[in-house]
Amino acid sequence: MDKFRIQGGPRLNGKVQVSGAKNAALPCLAATLLTCEPVEIAGTPRVRDIVTMEKVLQALGESCQHRAEVTRVVTGTGEAFWAPYELVRTMRASVLVLGPLVARRRRARVALPGGCAIGARPVDLHLAALERMGAELRVEHGDIVAEAPRGLHGADITFSKVTVTGTENVLMAATLARGRTVLRNCAREPEVGDLAALLVAMGAHISGAGSPTIEVEGVEGLHGASHRVIPDRIEAGTYLIAGALCGDRVTVDRCRPEHLGALLEVLEAAGASCSVGVDSIAVGRPPILRPVTIATTEFPGFATDLQAQLVALMTQAEGVSEVTEAIFENRFQHALELMRLGARIEVTGRTARICGPTSLTGATVMASDLRASAALVLAALVARGETVVDRIYHLDRGYEAMESKLGALGAAIERFNPGPYR
Ligand code: EPZ
Repeated sequence: MDKFRIQGGPRLNGKVQVSGAKNAALPCLAATLLTCEPVEIAGTPRVRDIVTMEKVLQALGESCQHRAEVTRVVTGTGEAFWAPYELVRTMRASVLVLGPLVARRRRARVALPGGCAIGARPVDLHLAALERMGAELRVEHGDIVAEAPRGLHGADITFSKVTVTGTENVLMAATLARGRTVLRNCAREPEVGDLAALLVAMGAHISGAGSPTIEVEGVEGLHGASHRVIPDRIEAGTYLIAGALCGDRVTVDRCRPEHLGALLEVLEAAGASCSVGVDSIAVGRPPILRPVTIATTEFPGFATDLQAQLVALMTQAEGVSEVTEAIFENRFQHALELMRLGARIEVTGRTARICGPTSLTGATVMASDLRASAALVLAALVARGETVVDRIYHLDRGYEAMESKLGALGAAIERFNPGPYR
């Protein structure tokens, strides 16, 4: 099982290029199920979750060919409709094939995604919306079984909670539903807008994507298209936090600053002023890091996917910070591991109080989920001595070549595998 070995201390300098957004590429890949024509998606990151989604598509009769950074997805007979548990359990975002399958193939069998390290993560809102559109749903042997023999019809749907993949799943289904669908209380994350851009390129009639209310006029069919996914704002934010933590000057290149407004405000409040360009942002460690008090919320608020990384940064702030995780019920796994490095963190309910600055010392720590792993890597960069981060397969799910990118900035980081059973 691969691990990272990190020597704390070096200052980071230079440019890091952001990869395509995993959480945009995943729904875009699922959207290829809505047509029998080839769809080309450029800029998908080479990370494990994308490989898993491609395996799910292959199980559904599609083929994914790669040429340079373009993935060309071609649908086969379009008869398959079962997304198997052994794939879905490794990536809950596989549930994104549900809407497209029901809309176009009029049936789907998708393993009910289990919970994960950060919470129960139900999909009840996805299912309730599809039922409103005429799908007959039941759970059978751990699978969601959905049928719409007469196809789906439009509906006026209000999500009781903002759900990113719920919005995406139902948006995709609505493109082929008969008549008009209005979706209210939608997620406004940039990845939703990016998916909508692909769907419109495929011939869908959508307005309001990126706002709380999205309207869709269903069409008979969608055609092929080419699309480039947006840059990964969470990867970009992770490297900006690395720069604020131990950078002389780190420039995050090929990003979309407008997707990072909340983080830039928090970094500013912490004393780490950023230089913002058209598609790049530069930041360095300030003389004094100030503590902050924030709560995660839906876009355009502070992203839950940057919460763990911010907690790592705040271990170095001069004072007490308070970070509240308002999206997921169990997203402070990183706190216990950071405490092994010497951090002083008290978690009460959904709020972590971080007392800084603390002098961190290297240790062996264990990654638990994608973003918690990133927080451990960041903390290791400023911990005295050697840190070994175990189970970095969590990182490989969503960060492309992290050790190469950090190494190019000057970090002392290497990937190693001590062999079986260790
Ligand atoms: C997406 O997950 C992202 N994943 C997550 O990123 C991200 O943390 C999350 O949105 C929040 O921004 C992808 O886009 C593939 P939600 P998603 O549905 O869609 C509750 C990463 O690190 N809820 O917006 O699964 C849910 O429990 C990952 O890249 C229901 O109750 O999140 C949570 O409390 C981690 N019922 C809240 O809503 C539902 O049917 C928001 O979840 C759906 C969600």
